[in-house]
Amino acid sequence: MASSEMSSSSEESSALETSAPTKSSRPEQSNSETTPESAAPVQSEPESQSEPLPEDGKTLVVYFTWSSNTAGMAETIAGLTGAETFEIVPVNPYPEEYTPYTEVALEERDNNARPEIKNLPASISEYDNILIGYPIWWHTAPMIIGTFLENYDLSGIEVYPFTQSASMDKEQFEQSMDFVRGCAENATVHDGLFARPSDTAAITSYLEQNGLTK
Ligand SMILES: Cc1cc2nc3c(=O)[nH]c(=O)nc-3n(C[C@H](O)[C@H](O)[C@H](O)COP(=O)(O)O)c2cc1C
Repeated sequence: MASSEMSSSSEESSALETSAPTKSSRPEQSNSETTPESAAPVQSEPESQSEPLPEDGKTLVVYFTWSSNTAGMAETIAGLTGAETFEIVPVNPYPEEYTPYTEVALEERDNNARPEIKNLPASISEYDNILIGYPIWWHTAPMIIGTFLENYDLSGIEVYPFTQSASMDKEQFEQSMDFVRGCAENATVHDGLFARPSDTAAITSYLEQNGLTK
């Protein structure tokens, strides 16, 4: 799926700058082992009139996806919020075959790795709200979500995780929330959204409850 381009559902434009990828590791991270069931915003010079933004600030939808389910959610969210989107793309592509792919992902989780991001935005400080989406991988979030979050000082930023998985197991969702909270220390991390990508009602309700709809 797609490149690491920033897109916007509003008419607002963003000049994207990227920085060299960062980070490596961090301690801890729990998880059990079972077989899995089954991209740049930034420093835009605000210009011209754009569509109304949510009352509580400018919103960016960041997501990582492999088989496009999270991308679908991100699109729905972008449509409802008027937010720009950014797809996280790894520097090193994952194996194309499913089993080797899952093995690499498991190794990353077990090593609490921080896979490099291809075109990490130089800054996200212009955003007040970051919705960050990912699939559940090995009972938690993909480690590359940590790479993104740990790259910035998220002070003053409201973070809203959203995710989905094959099993829709809530414990795995909560584990992923713990991971996100640990990687976004200075941010206010809100309760996340765990819903199937097709569940537009749940997605809409979550955004309304958090005052994020346009
Ligand atoms: C490496 C890997 C690990 C996964 N681990 C889990 C898991 O622990 N629990 C689960 O319910 N689904 C797991 N899945 C399934 C994905 O969460 C599911 O297919 C999701 O819809 C993929 O989202 P995407 O299309 O945005 O990549 C895993 C998939 C992959 C590729």
